[in-house]
Amino acid sequence: MKKIAVYPGSFDPVTRGHLDIVHRASRLFDRVIVAVLSNPAKKCTFSVAERLGMLEECVRGMPGVEVDAMPGLLVDYLRKRDSHIIIRGLRAVSDLDYEFQMAAVNRQLHPKVETVFLMPDDRYTYLSSTIVKSVASFGASLDHYLPAPAARMLRRKYRIRRKSAR
Ligand code: PNS
Repeated sequence: MKKIAVYPGSFDPVTRGHLDIVHRASRLFDRVIVAVLSNPAKKCTFSVAERLGMLEECVRGMPGVEVDAMPGLLVDYLRKRDSHIIIRGLRAVSDLDYEFQMAAVNRQLHPKVETVFLMPDDRYTYLSSTIVKSVASFGASLDHYLPAPAARMLRRKYRIRRKSAR
């Protein structure tokens, strides 16, 4: 039986840290579905279509990886996609509280679900979409943090001219 894992998130925008996790997961599972949160109640910088678009560009050529929108509950999405594996990246101890809470709730909602935590490369330990957006708003270079499609879209969103790293 094929092992299908779902990597859910806001990806607002997708960072190099997220892609590092996708890459690691793709070596462990037959199929990895990057599930983009589609929740009108959560205010995001990018629309669902924009986030899907940038992710699709980034994972093109990665075997076994697909991108999809995830409306509603994660466990319902897992059922729909015949998966019981959730992938989450764990950067530092500060992530633990939130991640354990989500893993526990998901397990209560769907007892067969397992959350698999993957540690990104050291370079991405302190990287988050929120920090990148803050840095971007001051016009700093985004190349270290974001893959090209996301950097391009964020610059466009904030109407900033391209700055090269250093
Ligand atoms: O990248 P994020 O914002 O930390 O991802 C959070 C996400 C999308 C994984 C989480 O909010 C989620 O699963 N939302 C769907 C609704 C849901 O299932 N909630 C119950 C589990 S917390």
